[in-house]
Amino acid sequence: MNILKNKKILLIICGGISAYKSLELIRLLKKEEVEIKTILTKNSKKFITPLSVTSLTQNKVYDDLFNAENEAEMDHISLSRWCDAIVIVPATANTISKLSFGKSDDLASTVVLASNKQVILAPAMNVRMWTHRATQENVNRLKNYGYLFIGPETGDMACGEYGEGKMTEPSQIITYLTNFFTINKITSKIKLKALVTAGPTKEYIDPARFISNQSSGKQGYEIARSLAKRGIDTTLISGPTNLDTPENVNIIRVETANEMFEETKKKLPADIAICAAAVSDFKIANFYNNKIKKKDKMSLDFEKNIDILEYLSNHNSLRPKLVLGFAAETNDLLKNAQEKILTKHCDWIIANDISKAEIGFGSDFNEVSIVYKEKNKQNETISRRRKSEIAEIITDKVVENFIS
Ligand SMILES: Cc1cc2nc3c(=O)[nH]c(=O)nc-3n(C[C@H](O)[C@H](O)[C@H](O)COP(=O)(O)O)c2cc1C
Repeated sequence: MNILKNKKILLIICGGISAYKSLELIRLLKKEEVEIKTILTKNSKKFITPLSVTSLTQNKVYDDLFNAENEAEMDHISLSRWCDAIVIVPATANTISKLSFGKSDDLASTVVLASNKQVILAPAMNVRMWTHRATQENVNRLKNYGYLFIGPETGDMACGEYGEGKMTEPSQIITYLTNFFTINKITSKIKLKALVTAGPTKEYIDPARFISNQSSGKQGYEIARSLAKRGIDTTLISGPTNLDTPENVNIIRVETANEMFEETKKKLPADIAICAAAVSDFKIANFYNNKIKKKDKMSLDFEKNIDILEYLSNHNSLRPKLVLGFAAETNDLLKNAQEKILTKHCDWIIANDISKAEIGFGSDFNEVSIVYKEKNKQNETISRRRKSEIAEIITDKVVENFIS
């Protein structure tokens, strides 16, 4: 079945060198029998012509916010009502910046601001424009609003440089849209409930001091974000982090492993449990009620914390249908992940190598291997990319698990 057939896409084309690729995208969307309406920004017309766009879409091109004829139909409202999703290709640094601040000074930005439909952006720009803190902060703000990003990819650029910033190829955008609408269809039919743990825990020595670990919580937050984006009722139980709460996620903030465990129990039953938190294995057995003084002698005794992943995986009556654990390893990644599946009885382990400085704790990037309990499923490696993209891939696999 062609899931894209008769879908209505509002395509916004911006003024970047990759604008020519939007023509190929239109051609491929037409092949899938998608209905397309287009908005061209003023600057996009420096790169492609309305004539080529209108010939390919067989629909008129919209480009003017202040058009008396169009505004009789209130284009900036009706276009958004008409479509199933808004796709912005190429999404320029300028348009990303405008949208992230809720500007509405042309038809494209006004339609997006006036819309409650899913907005999907395929950015394309020079590597330094993309990696600039301003752009990254704008992108993160949009992600927090629930906007989706396809790419950009790493490779040779039109400007002669190499790096991250290339627009994703139109054929891959088609694959992305196919997955997006497939998963949307599934999650609108079945109501799933997910529980995600993230971040570190603190184990107190005395009222002022604690032991903790390096976890930033980023990967768990990104997973919660992408589950919620697919309409899954998502609760995030988070240890101390400085991250913003993802859109549409119910957040419960905790400090200690004990608190995380207690809150987890309260959230059962759930269909999906993803244990991404770096829960301290040990807590202090001899907690000092008063702050220890410099002149005092002190020694620490430890006792084991409850293993939340193991608890969920072995729950008699309320075991979530799918239980995922994370394994941060410094050696023998796959072997240790396989052992963890056997000892804890969870379904999948997402293993990452924290000895690599450029991925893992604190980084925006990660590289993971998914190890499955099912013998007929091959382990998979997701090569180095942003934690948000890793989260999207894992979430798609989780959702697919509920259809197959
Ligand atoms: C030749 C040329 C190529 C450009 N390519 C890009 C690009 O790939 N990505 C980008 O963000 N901006 C690019 N720009 C800058 C944008 O055109 C400029 O920021 C413009 O204001 C974008 O307008 P819009 O976002 O309203 O379409 C380019 C400019 C020129 C002159």
